[in-house]
Amino acid sequence: MRPTLFKMTLERVKGVAQMSFCKSVFTGFFGLLLVLTFLANTGRAAVEPVKLKCEYLCDPVGIDTTCPRLSWVLRSDERAQKQSAYQLLVASSEERLQSDEGDLWDTGKVVSDKSIHVPYKGRELKSRMRCHWKVRVWDKNGKISDYSQPALWEMGLISTKDWQARWISGPSLDWDKDPGKTQSSPLFRKMFTLRKPVRRARAYISGLGYYELYLNGKKVGDNVLDPAFTRYDKRVLYVTYDITKAVAEGDNVVGAMLGNGWYNVKSRAAWGFDKAPWRAQPTLICQVEVEFVDGSMKVIASDSSWKVVSGPIRFDNIRLGEVYDARMEQAGWNGTQYNDHSWNAARVVDGPSGKLAAQMLQPIRVIETLEPVKVSEPQKGTYVFDMGQNIAGWAQLTVSGPRGTRVVMKYGERLYDNGTLDLRDVSAFVEDKELFQTDAYILSGEGTEVWEPRFTYHGFRYVQVTGFPGKPGVQNLSGRVVHTALEPVGHFECSNNLFNNIQRCTLRSFVGNFHGYPTDCPHREKNGWTDDAHIAVEVGLYNYDSAAAYTKWLKDIKDEQPQSGELPGIIPTGGWGYTWGNGYPGDLAYIWVAWSIYRYCGDRRVLEEHYEAFKRHLGFITGNQATDGIVSYGLGDWNSVKGSTPTPAPVISTGCYYREAFLLSKIAELLGKDDDVQLYSQLATEIKQAFDKKFFNPETSVYADGTQGGLSLALHYGLVEPEKKRGTMKALLASIENSKYHLTTGITGTMCLLNAMTDNSQIGLAYRIANQKTFPGWGYWIDQGATTLWEQWDGTESRNHIMFGYISAWFYKAIGGINLDRKEAGFKKIVIRPFGANGLAWARAEHRSMYGLIRSAWQKKPDNFILEVTTPVNTTAIVHIPAKTARAVTEGGMLAEKSLGVSFLRMDGEAAVFVVESGDYSFVSRQ
Ligand code: BGC
Repeated sequence: MRPTLFKMTLERVKGVAQMSFCKSVFTGFFGLLLVLTFLANTGRAAVEPVKLKCEYLCDPVGIDTTCPRLSWVLRSDERAQKQSAYQLLVASSEERLQSDEGDLWDTGKVVSDKSIHVPYKGRELKSRMRCHWKVRVWDKNGKISDYSQPALWEMGLISTKDWQARWISGPSLDWDKDPGKTQSSPLFRKMFTLRKPVRRARAYISGLGYYELYLNGKKVGDNVLDPAFTRYDKRVLYVTYDITKAVAEGDNVVGAMLGNGWYNVKSRAAWGFDKAPWRAQPTLICQVEVEFVDGSMKVIASDSSWKVVSGPIRFDNIRLGEVYDARMEQAGWNGTQYNDHSWNAARVVDGPSGKLAAQMLQPIRVIETLEPVKVSEPQKGTYVFDMGQNIAGWAQLTVSGPRGTRVVMKYGERLYDNGTLDLRDVSAFVEDKELFQTDAYILSGEGTEVWEPRFTYHGFRYVQVTGFPGKPGVQNLSGRVVHTALEPVGHFECSNNLFNNIQRCTLRSFVGNFHGYPTDCPHREKNGWTDDAHIAVEVGLYNYDSAAAYTKWLKDIKDEQPQSGELPGIIPTGGWGYTWGNGYPGDLAYIWVAWSIYRYCGDRRVLEEHYEAFKRHLGFITGNQATDGIVSYGLGDWNSVKGSTPTPAPVISTGCYYREAFLLSKIAELLGKDDDVQLYSQLATEIKQAFDKKFFNPETSVYADGTQGGLSLALHYGLVEPEKKRGTMKALLASIENSKYHLTTGITGTMCLLNAMTDNSQIGLAYRIANQKTFPGWGYWIDQGATTLWEQWDGTESRNHIMFGYISAWFYKAIGGINLDRKEAGFKKIVIRPFGANGLAWARAEHRSMYGLIRSAWQKKPDNFILEVTTPVNTTAIVHIPAKTARAVTEGGMLAEKSLGVSFLRMDGEAAVFVVESGDYSFVSRQ
């Protein structure tokens, strides 16, 4: 029976009973109740498990975690539903799973509401094992669901002994003397014959810097710029492909093409990747494993029997670009009919010293193709294509013309007044300026030629083309949007178009800065600056399914940490940026990203895995940078508004130091490390006292010279004693008034300010600041035509930086109203607290959490405030609705507190607060 019906029935019956006390009504009611109770206990569960994931990924093939965690979402048409128990079956074959035989793991009925991150505890997982799994659940009434649709994961090669393949390269080049302008990318091939029908086939591959894999003439998979960048002397990622359908009985050819990527950066730039300790000629490791129907195996492993030759890519560099000479194409090079007698034998090399590890994040892909909005010809023969928006990726060229014609494409995000490309800002730190963000294609002269680069990417809105044979049109060039294929899990929209525009720009900058690791900008640097990630992680977690990608980056951080505990400013690095690096706030990114994954996705493992490294880092700061609790070293409030007084670096750094100690004490508590709880909370208290002593001026009653950034940081990080809060807020408000309701802050101050305002009942003021259309502010950028977020408030330098993007997280939290509970992680408990600022008529925020869809959509009507809420099964929400009293609020047409799944909790100032169980709700509050 549906509880809604039950509750309504009860209400109705109660009413009738009160009116007449009629015996027959009672008899009828109890009879009905009996029938309904009987039905309730016999039917199927009201919940259904869907969206099964393993380690955040759908059906991952080739993982190397031996204790993978399984998660599912529960769907229900009923309100107030929960999982009371589950049963997981993991089987070694599809058939076994189908006949409900969990030969690898059968949990039996586990009484638990846990539906995310259930760790596998079945039979030991070995390399190559294919694990088929499904789950069924018991709902809150103890009724059992059907089994879910089957899902799977497959183990990769978990031991180094599994690798028969060797690292191979092309002929040795004296590449240190080579200026790097001519070395072409190698092509590899290996022919093999299969004499029996194939049951399954896999390719395990890594190629540094980047590889493309081919089987029988066709590219395998749609990954590009693969594998993701890591510190190659510590960890190298390999990828597993299911190639069962790509191979056939008879002759087959496996082929690969390699690019330099970050493995062999020859060009010089400020961050010294040309001196990276791992730097070497591109190298490949590939192991094709074929299992025949009769159970026997054949392994084709890269070794000196593979052939190699120079390919048509004559030059490729991650920051500069790619040159492709179509005249050098070897037609059919990766097919079975090709004669490779003239090719060289591949050379077995040591390869990178890093350990091979499975790539367990979404790959980089071409996500979208844009048609240019305009083509202009600012100078004779120079054509500028405008993609209409700033993106990360490259262009695809379609051209026909005489053999040997060289078409050059330069990429940038600004134009000179004369309409030609202006690359000055983004090429600032690179030595080879004339080659920066430049691709070239040399025509074969055969028919219509379509080409795009493979081993580089650019940040751009405009592509300037020279050398094109004839006059190109929009059909000759398209924009390929390329980034880590993070699935969108968020949506924010409201009645203020400026905010919608800022949200769109933020999303573009976020993904435009995610290529296997979070970057600062997709052109000038492509560096994994920790400061930028510190600000952007919450933006990432609200908007994208990014936990797996951040988990990978946390491992990158760990790989970079020496015993001393220090961290470099960019991660991965080729060695640049140590000896204190940038210090705080970037250094806070390590613990903060892990903590955010825990908070947003309920993932404790990241905390466990990095706990010792966090301790080492805090130990390093305490031993090297802190004096009497004060850390003076650091970047300060990076990119504060020029001309305003910047927040002193020691204020920001000491605030971050406090934050790190505080978070570590919380993590210690969670992980049950009692001695550490004591140690780090004591440290946090001491830092707080030192901060107060050093930065609070008793004469003016103001912290940190009264800068917006300093005051906001003190408030947001909890450094202000309760009795000083009012004064601090007063000073902050005065400073805001003084700057005519504009920011004076940099990236950290801006994040803190939005939060400090929201947490201290000044959301209207935060709205006013965020809504500014004049300098400095997001609205000023939009007014100047921004399609992504910029590096500087005044618009100088890069035009695709994510570090002022915190505003998107603020949209979800403050405007949309989707918030984390202070205690429970993973949105197990949700706090919906929407804000109806003057000037806003409605807002809609959605976030697909690990438990399912959370939705908060509100609108203001002359007499009503309407709030629609969706809470996933297995969670509860604390919902704040602007109201004078609880009785002024209805849900689904009845008094809210009487509605199924809703109970009144308390009044909180101007809001009625309800506890809401899972389901869809429509609240109306009479104003
Ligand atoms: C990067 C920034 C980064 C900063 C830190 C800049 O060059 O582009 O995003 O945070 O350096 O020093």
